[in-house]
Amino acid sequence: MNEIVMQILAKQPASYSIKIGSGFLLNPAEWLSLDYQGKQLVIITDDNVNKIYGEKLANALANYKPLLLSFLPGEKSKNYLTKQSLEDQMFEHHCNRDTIILSLGGGVVGDIAGFVASTYMRGISYIQIPTTLLAMIDSSVGGKTAINTNQGKNLIGAFWQPSYVVADLNCLMTLPKVQVINGLIEAIKIFMTNDAYYFNYVNNNIENIINKDILVIKNIVEQAIKLKVSVVSQDERENKHRVVLNFGHTIGHAIEKMTDYTILHGYAVALGILVEAKISQLLGFLSLEYYQIIQSLFFRLNITLSELKKLNCDEIILATKSDKKMKLNSVRYVLLNEIGNIHYDDNIYVHPVSDEIVKKAICEVQHDG
Ligand code: GLY
Repeated sequence: MNEIVMQILAKQPASYSIKIGSGFLLNPAEWLSLDYQGKQLVIITDDNVNKIYGEKLANALANYKPLLLSFLPGEKSKNYLTKQSLEDQMFEHHCNRDTIILSLGGGVVGDIAGFVASTYMRGISYIQIPTTLLAMIDSSVGGKTAINTNQGKNLIGAFWQPSYVVADLNCLMTLPKVQVINGLIEAIKIFMTNDAYYFNYVNNNIENIINKDILVIKNIVEQAIKLKVSVVSQDERENKHRVVLNFGHTIGHAIEKMTDYTILHGYAVALGILVEAKISQLLGFLSLEYYQIIQSLFFRLNITLSELKKLNCDEIILATKSDKKMKLNSVRYVLLNEIGNIHYDDNIYVHPVSDEIVKKAICEVQHDG
């Protein structure tokens, strides 16, 4: 046997910036890199965001004659068909390897536009322009891109980092209250696993957040992004610490799938957080007092248990079995020791939990409120 060794020079460490400000989105001279002059731009958005910002951004970028592509809003569009349709339209318009995608919208748009960027002609550049709190705080940062399949959420995708992220806080001023809460849950999740001070900051500022106090929201967005950056920069591919960002998501994704994505992601994750915090409590890691603090915060945010109560425990457990954290036939969970502090044991961030404990936790949460 002869052996020929392929040695690929290590890639330069990638770095990119997350630009946060107010009222600069429609002035691209402030954020679009001069390197992109003369390049073909494709704005990918959904029909809701298109009505508010799509045309306006296309006009602001008129020199580039951008191609504006839009699809039906909602998680149900995050599938093969939408991806293929976007790619076909890009081929029709002769997009090539130098084309830059501008992903304009919430989490669904960012995930799908990023995934198109990751595979179009084996990968092209893209810029994340999140317009929702959820996308600013979580999905636009860190390079996770994906679509959903019949088997579950985000099961096909790629790690593909954006060239940069442009977060204009003014976009949040038109968001309905449910969308503010939807995004806030991801901030609460990251604070709950990493930063008790900011968890308390959210807990003490609920009214200000709901009333969209720009300073409070800016503090939360910046701190959530800083924490996310520090986690992802050490573990892009989720081999270790990044998995903590999935707290609440194993049960949350199962609930989204079972409700056919009719529940908003953040609301499903909130129910997932309650169940996964309850598991932590049943296993003796998290005190009942901490669990009750989380529960009362969610009740103040009008997170009701009604969707969870409609679901059958065994079916939820079955739906978790396609989770990406599954190993050796056992679903593994991020667990909490206290607010701001995950249960970390012997270099292990996710822990196998028996179906029996998960079932007990779901039943207790279902009967809690
Ligand atoms: N949304 C979780 C992560 O980016 O890892």
